Amino acid sequence: MDYLQITGGAKLSGSIKISGAKNSALPIIAATILSDKPVKLTNLPNVVDIRTLLKLLDILGGTVEHNDTVANINNGTMNSTKAVYEIVSQMRASILVLGPLLARFGECEVSLPGGCAIGQRPIDLHLKAMEAMGATIEIKGGYVRAEAPNGLQGAKIVFDKITVGGTENTLMAAALAHGTTTIVNAAKEPEIVQLCEMLADAGVKIEGIGTSEITIEGTGQKPLTFKDVEIIPDRIEAGTYLCAAAITNSTITLEKVNPAHIEASINKLEAMGCSFKIDGENITISGTSRLKPVSLVTTEYPGFPTDMQAQFMAVATMAIGESVIEERLFENRFMHVSELNRLGSDIWLKGSVAAVKPVAQLYGADVMATDLRASSALVLAGLVAEGVTNVHRIYHLDRGYDNLEGKLSTLGAKIERLSE
Ligand code: UD1
Repeated sequence: MDYLQITGGAKLSGSIKISGAKNSALPIIAATILSDKPVKLTNLPNVVDIRTLLKLLDILGGTVEHNDTVANINNGTMNSTKAVYEIVSQMRASILVLGPLLARFGECEVSLPGGCAIGQRPIDLHLKAMEAMGATIEIKGGYVRAEAPNGLQGAKIVFDKITVGGTENTLMAAALAHGTTTIVNAAKEPEIVQLCEMLADAGVKIEGIGTSEITIEGTGQKPLTFKDVEIIPDRIEAGTYLCAAAITNSTITLEKVNPAHIEASINKLEAMGCSFKIDGENITISGTSRLKPVSLVTTEYPGFPTDMQAQFMAVATMAIGESVIEERLFENRFMHVSELNRLGSDIWLKGSVAAVKPVAQLYGADVMATDLRASSALVLAGLVAEGVTNVHRIYHLDRGYDNLEGKLSTLGAKIERLSE
């Protein structure tokens, strides 16, 4: 198994290009199931999760040509509607094929994803939405079996909790349903907006894009013809590199970013004393030798993203006062705390709130990655820890960060991928 070895203390400088957003690419790949014609996706991040979902399309009988950042997909050849356990168990986001498979073929079987390191993560809201659209759902043998032999029917879906994946599944299902669907309390993430735009560019009438109430007129099971899609920049990857600059008190430039998508992270880092220069799609951040403590609560977009919580906690370890971080979205998303404390941080947990007390220095140690974003927090801490930090189990990182060690090396970090 690979691990990352980081020798702390190097200042960062220079510029790197931010990759396409994994969390936008995944629903967009799933949405290609709504078409029986070829579609080209560009600016895909070169990460394991993307390869996993493309493999699922291949297993379903789709035709996929993929090289690093470009995929040519033709789901006209699709001849199976069973999303098998072997794939879904590797990546929860595989549940995103539920809506499009059901909408296009009137039936599907999708393995239940189960929980994951950061919490229970149920899919009840996805299933309720499909039922409201007329599907019969049965759970048997670890699979969700969904049927709508005469196609899905438009419906009013009111989410009692904001769900990104649930909104995406419903949007895709609604695009091919008979009649009009309204999603109330929809997620508003940029990834949702890009999915809506892809559907709208294919002729689906959608109102309320980017708002919490979205109305979709379905095509009545007529497959869509998509235009090429260029995946938007990854706001979480960008935020992670901003944190790398902040924790090392460096000046770096990120290219190909959408600054509007990372406002929550920029605002918090500004409050901590970092400064920014924004020039179109480029952002330059300069750190400070006196990082102020931060107080943050994770919430839905445009609020502070849960996917940036662990990285900010790493930065907060270097602040000159006590920071308070509250996690509101996932019940178990503090697994990085004990690992950060192995590096010498002083973080106290009470329920969903973490108090990050100031320490003079972190010290390198062996630490274990527990989930995708927790892993990047450990890498960030390793950048400033004195001596050598080995981050193990980096298969989590490889799921979502495109060439993390390559990009950090370009910026001057001392980081190497080694094998156990
Ligand atoms: C997506 C992101 C993930 C991010 C999360 C929150 C992708 C591939 N992943 O995950 O990186 O951390 O949004 O911004 O885009 N919930 C239910 N029932 C459901 C669905 C969700 O109770 O049927 C709960 C979840 O357990 C969680 C909350 O709703 O507490 C939000 O989850 P959701 O927005 O659905 O997250 P994902 O789409 O899984």
